[in-house]
Amino acid sequence: MSNNPIGIFDSGVGGTSIWKEIHQLLPHEHSIYLADSFNAPYGPKGTEIITELSIKNTELLLKKGCKLIVVACNTATTNAIAYLRQSYDVPFIGIEPAIKPAALNTKSNAVGILATKGTLSSTLFSETSGRFANNVKVIEREGKGIVELIENGKLYSDNMKLLLSQYLEPMLEANIDYLVLGCTHYPYLIPMLLELLPPHVKIIDSGEAVARQTKAVLTENDLLNTEITTPKLEFYTNGSMDVMRSLLGEGFNVEYLKF
Ligand code: SIN
Repeated sequence: MSNNPIGIFDSGVGGTSIWKEIHQLLPHEHSIYLADSFNAPYGPKGTEIITELSIKNTELLLKKGCKLIVVACNTATTNAIAYLRQSYDVPFIGIEPAIKPAALNTKSNAVGILATKGTLSSTLFSETSGRFANNVKVIEREGKGIVELIENGKLYSDNMKLLLSQYLEPMLEANIDYLVLGCTHYPYLIPMLLELLPPHVKIIDSGEAVARQTKAVLTENDLLNTEITTPKLEFYTNGSMDVMRSLLGEGFNVEYLKF
């Protein structure tokens, strides 16, 4: 079992930002990445549909023999991970917006969070926010339209710049010094965000923490790959292979799969 692949799924290509962190930390692990781009975005969908889509992705990864599943999507984590953990035997790793470090470290007492509607309205998010950011001003903005632009290959576009400027405006007015990225598509926006934000605003995403958590859970469960071989890296999408290739970079084999 320990030499089986790690399974990773997202509503689309954004979770590749998480896959990159995991691959960097665990370079010998085999992995299978599923991009459910056909159904992206998950953000505006209700919990029931997000859970159904997460079950479909999980079952496909389990059929392919995955030993652990990373839900590389904030919306699927906040809406469906509790159900997945109850229903299947493998360990699940989820992604939650890193509101805790932002709330603990803010000097201006104001933090911004950009996430999907599905994440911001979830019980898990409001519990985390209530627990760790009670005394801090949290300026939440739904990143409406961002996932769609990325999924359509329009990451670097005037439209994207305009949306980001609109979403950041109330945060900057509130004098935030931390911006939390609450969607796995958003780390791809960092170069643009750095142009739009004043230099003292720090950007936090959850990628590295998720990779460390993945390693810890594999270790605890005796599931770390013991073979030092070249890993088999599989990428499947039910959307555009070109968009996925453009985010992954050279040398990765992306396949189209209907699921
Ligand atoms: C989405 O599909 O709307 C975004 C995915 C995420 O929340 O990470």
